[in-house]
Amino acid sequence: MLILGIESSCDETAAAVIEDGARVRSNVIYSQIATHRQYGGVVPELASREHLEKIGGVVSGALEEAGVTHADVDGIAVTQGPGLVGSLLVGINYAKAIAFARKRPVVGVNHIEGHVYSVAFEFPPPQYPALALIVSGGHTNLFLVPEPERYKLIGRTRDDAAGEAFDKVSKLIGLGYPGGPVIDRLAARGNKRAIIFPLAEIKDEAHRLDFSFSGLKTAVLRHVRDNGIEPVTDPSHPSEQILDLCASFQNAVVRALVRSLRKAAEQLQPKTLILAGGVACNSELRAAVRQLAEDLRIPAFIPSPVFTTDNAAMIAAAGYPKLLRGECASWEMSADVSLRLQNVDVEDAKVGKKVRYRL
Ligand code: KG4
Ligand code: ZN
Repeated sequence: MLILGIESSCDETAAAVIEDGARVRSNVIYSQIATHRQYGGVVPELASREHLEKIGGVVSGALEEAGVTHADVDGIAVTQGPGLVGSLLVGINYAKAIAFARKRPVVGVNHIEGHVYSVAFEFPPPQYPALALIVSGGHTNLFLVPEPERYKLIGRTRDDAAGEAFDKVSKLIGLGYPGGPVIDRLAARGNKRAIIFPLAEIKDEAHRLDFSFSGLKTAVLRHVRDNGIEPVTDPSHPSEQILDLCASFQNAVVRALVRSLRKAAEQLQPKTLILAGGVACNSELRAAVRQLAEDLRIPAFIPSPVFTTDNAAMIAAAGYPKLLRGECASWEMSADVSLRLQNVDVEDAKVGKKVRYRL
């Protein structure tokens, strides 16, 4: 079964052709980073306009690279949400137009579920239950996945996403957008014990696996002010203070993420650990999760960077079981900017009512 995946939820216009849910025939990603860099973050208006300009070429490129035409494609999977509404609509309408013209089924995919499926290409099928830590610029979520396509959100950020924290700290010290890759690079040259940033403790027992990064961001801001640290003007010659700050900040983020993952793993005894989302490119986080998996003697599935950042291959892989079952969205399908990923009921300990979390 050949699936065309389309992803346009944020600032990557992407299309991919995937065979039988696991074999990558093509994976084309057009990144808009150059457009948004000068503004220090993604500008939604510019993002949707650029998606509109690029999507045709990106989809044709993916078909061409896979050596197929529209006629060979059995179904289309497109990101339905969460994301930026204008950006999502470009992908959704393009996907619906192809589906209509070619009489093919189309399914909407939750972007976060897509990240969980980014392990489909380089690893054997996960053993369940699995724990999936999805860390990106917009999300920081820890899921228990008892079986394929079932998700229970067991930890989430109370404030900033982990990638957002990288991006904000980077901006503060003059390293620009996106912050993750440059902080990762500089952290390797700094001393991660130079500054000990305390980790936020979530006191509430029912939410003890949650994360919080805004206090850390404020602590970095205070450290910069108190020590008179100047923003970087020449990124090829950062000061030692900047290198140590990058290393210490990154280490605090990694410790917070791995602390919750370890607690959850010890309690729930998963058979697989999944780490995905843009921040899963981070070298210290990858090493720490590998170490945790080794300690617990379970496999860690951490995809190559091309699959951890936003891409359409993961969207096609997540759409595969749905298309295989014969699902097809109606023509009314539209963007859902705050689409949730939780289909295992949870009991809220305090209220005693069933709750659904926002992502
Ligand atoms: O998954 P993604 O491409 O887009 C979203 O869905 O948000 O993630 C982008 C985020 C950005 O915040 C970026 O700074 C972060 O991933 N990122 C990293 C690294 N590479 C990208 N964060 C830490 N270390 C990295 N090496
Ligand atoms: Zn993403």
